[in-house]
Amino acid sequence: MSNLNSAHPLRLAIVGGGPTSWIGGQHRRAAQFDGLWQVVAGVFSSQADRSRDAAVGLGLEPARGYADVASMIAAESLREDGIDAVAIMSPNDTHYPYSAAALDAGLDVICDKPVSSNAAEARDLAARAQARNRVLCVTHAYSAYPMTRYMKQLVAEGAIGPVRMVQVEYIQSGLAKPIEQGPMTDSQRWKFDADRSGLALSFSAIGCHVQHLACNVLGQKITAVSADVGSLMPGRTVTDTILANLRFEHGARGQYTITQAAAGGENDIRLRIYGERGLLDWSHRESGYLHLNIEGETARVIGRGDVNLPADIARLSRTPRGHPEGLLEAFANLYREAAEAITARRNDQTVETTSFPTITDAVHTMDFIEACIASHARNGEWTNLPN
Ligand SMILES: NC(=O)c1ccc[n+]([C@@H]2O[C@H](COP(=O)([O-])OP(=O)(O)OC[C@H]3O[C@@H](n4cnc5c(N)ncnc54)[C@H](O)[C@@H]3O)[C@@H](O)[C@H]2O)c1
Repeated sequence: MSNLNSAHPLRLAIVGGGPTSWIGGQHRRAAQFDGLWQVVAGVFSSQADRSRDAAVGLGLEPARGYADVASMIAAESLREDGIDAVAIMSPNDTHYPYSAAALDAGLDVICDKPVSSNAAEARDLAARAQARNRVLCVTHAYSAYPMTRYMKQLVAEGAIGPVRMVQVEYIQSGLAKPIEQGPMTDSQRWKFDADRSGLALSFSAIGCHVQHLACNVLGQKITAVSADVGSLMPGRTVTDTILANLRFEHGARGQYTITQAAAGGENDIRLRIYGERGLLDWSHRESGYLHLNIEGETARVIGRGDVNLPADIARLSRTPRGHPEGLLEAFANLYREAAEAITARRNDQTVETTSFPTITDAVHTMDFIEACIASHARNGEWTNLPN
């Protein structure tokens, strides 16, 4: 059994994330950032020879580059140094069956979004994770930046008073060209196949990240939506844009704007929360800073390197102030927290709270997506999410 120190890192298998996948490198680097995980095996492709070649390219034992998830789980369970957990970043339609198989085998799971194709499957994963008492960490890294975590703390402490309004957006240009009209790469082909990418493409690509960010920072669920789900690109049959009005648990109103088809957009993520007393404003472009404007007071800029931050926020930074940190470190925070939760359970310690996104969050995400699609089908009629 692995201990939480660099001499005995937890042993991780990667599913997906082959040589051409950017997010694969991100996961591997983030997992190994703090020495708490070691990548030892994987299924890096749906083709056996490519999976083995990728394993060799990563310096792994060739035999640990498996042909499929079932054979990997079977072979690793027979090894004394077998895997502790699986990180899944293969195409979207594989997330649910692979997560279910790993949980059923008693493995902990780090799963990229979306965890499933619909809310029913997400609920099924939640039941499996609970029955097995296993971690299922969803890699919504924007909620793991020091300043978004501090924003959450300030909201909970009442720094801006009861929340009245939430503005959240993710504007990007990944689909700003008519990609589907030209020759597509393998990566583009599955994304434009609705059966493989899941409910409404851009929800699963970027929309789920900022829905999670808003709900996580607010500490509240969305109760109802009025949504416009469609595409900016003329003639496109998959969704590249979602605009929605939101209502939150304690009565706050919200606006949600996400698109992958805005030419010039650069992963522009912004969250503004307006309370009775003032505003908290975080932008991904300046991710190390948080703006706090209390009505009638001098505006404040809080930095992730400030000396008086609470210890649980300060530990999310690794680099002295002024030097940039970003998405890789936020991903690494998720891997560190998942490792801590797994190790605590193995040591029979109680984990009071888990700060990383869990399968419970993912169930709410899938409810949100289904409610937006249902609302759009009724011309934007207000649609309630399940309680
Ligand atoms: N969290 C984030 O910020 C973030 C960012 C980008 C992508 N993603 C997620 O990562 C996943 C992959 O996206 P991508 O853009 O890297 O896709 P991609 O098509 O570029 O890469 C997919 C990888 O999975 C491999 N693969 C395909 N089928 C497989 C199978 N059955 N078993 C094992 N491996 C298989 C491919 O060989 C490839 O290496 C998606 O679910 C996406 O939502 C998350």
